[in-house]
Amino acid sequence: MSPTPIAATRPTLPMGELTDHARGPSLVEASPGDDRLALRWDDDARARFPLTWLRDHCACAECRHPLTRERLYMGLEVPESAPATGLEDGNLTLHWADGHVSRYDAGWLYQRRPGEVRHDPVPTRQPWAVGFRPVHVAHGDFAAGADGERAWLRALLRDGLVLLDDGPLADEEVSRLAARIGPLRATNFGARFDVRSKPNPNNAAYTAIGLALHSDLPNWRQPPDIQLLYCLENDAEGGESTFVDGFAAAETLRRQAPEAFRLLAETSIDFRFQDEDHDIVWCAPLLSLDAAGRVTEVRLNNWIRDTLRLPLEEIDAWYDAYRVFWRLVQDPQHRLEFALAPGQMVAFDNRRVLHGRRAFDPNTGRRHLQGTYLDLDMCESRLRVLARQR
Ligand code: OGA
Ligand code: ZN
Ligand code: ZN
Repeated sequence: MSPTPIAATRPTLPMGELTDHARGPSLVEASPGDDRLALRWDDDARARFPLTWLRDHCACAECRHPLTRERLYMGLEVPESAPATGLEDGNLTLHWADGHVSRYDAGWLYQRRPGEVRHDPVPTRQPWAVGFRPVHVAHGDFAAGADGERAWLRALLRDGLVLLDDGPLADEEVSRLAARIGPLRATNFGARFDVRSKPNPNNAAYTAIGLALHSDLPNWRQPPDIQLLYCLENDAEGGESTFVDGFAAAETLRRQAPEAFRLLAETSIDFRFQDEDHDIVWCAPLLSLDAAGRVTEVRLNNWIRDTLRLPLEEIDAWYDAYRVFWRLVQDPQHRLEFALAPGQMVAFDNRRVLHGRRAFDPNTGRRHLQGTYLDLDMCESRLRVLARQR
């Protein structure tokens, strides 16, 4: 990757800043205090920056690698005295006591005023409301350029599910689409898998039976993030797809049955997949929470739930909580159900949105999906890269 050229009069932008933030207000005042520098811009915004922070964010070629823009400076010294300040073309120059000179773009600093939230094109997650309808993007628009892909990614990251319509009935199209975003995430089922009824299935998905709402591969320490299922054939009777927002369901559980929510979040259970070549086991709670108590992952997959190994007195309570969540998840009010059309692809966040399908009758026709997975990091990265083109 080569760095974006930056106007010569501008100070270098630190740390992977490939977009030119060198627009925005100019600096009109810089007054050093003990261990802070007070700045004022021409729109009268004010902010104070610790000197250690400023020294750490120096963008000169000694402190950042000029090509990778990654940090070389270790940030271990504490600046001994306040630097001499200068304003050139509304941008800031600091002359440190040891002779080091740092230059900062005024707009870059403006966006990093302590306490300011970071601007990120990645949308925040939005829970499905009753009557939620997913965004559809035409395959042609996705293929044509940034706008379609951007709309698809935004919907996927915000809603956890998005549809791509009217694609070609082409083998491996799912891999080609996925590869635009990032490397395919391989699992024990391969980097790309075929979902159809097979003679010697090693997975419920490779039969014709119905699949209750589930997440894929909760028996992995890091289950795949984004699942893509591309429909090539779907003329058998049945086989409708079902989806539910697992995070929204977990929040409803938290409100309606807080004790069940607590149990499912605090009790780790075993998940396990075994076939001729694999034996993959992970122990985790059904609901994972972050430090603030927000749900970050739902692991629900009844057919690879392993032996429930809990102390005797906890077993019945866990089943009671599981049943309550299970019923909630099935509530048709919150569930999406539709038949995938050939040439249509559904993409969803496997760690948030639960998916399933109705049983189909393989004697009445064929049903064939091709699937793969992607990392969420790559989806977010792609959206940020596309946002640079605006
Ligand atoms: C799967 C799966 C759904 C379907 O392959 O993991 O859940 O519609 N498939 O067949
Ligand atoms: Zn420097
Ligand atoms: Zn599945």
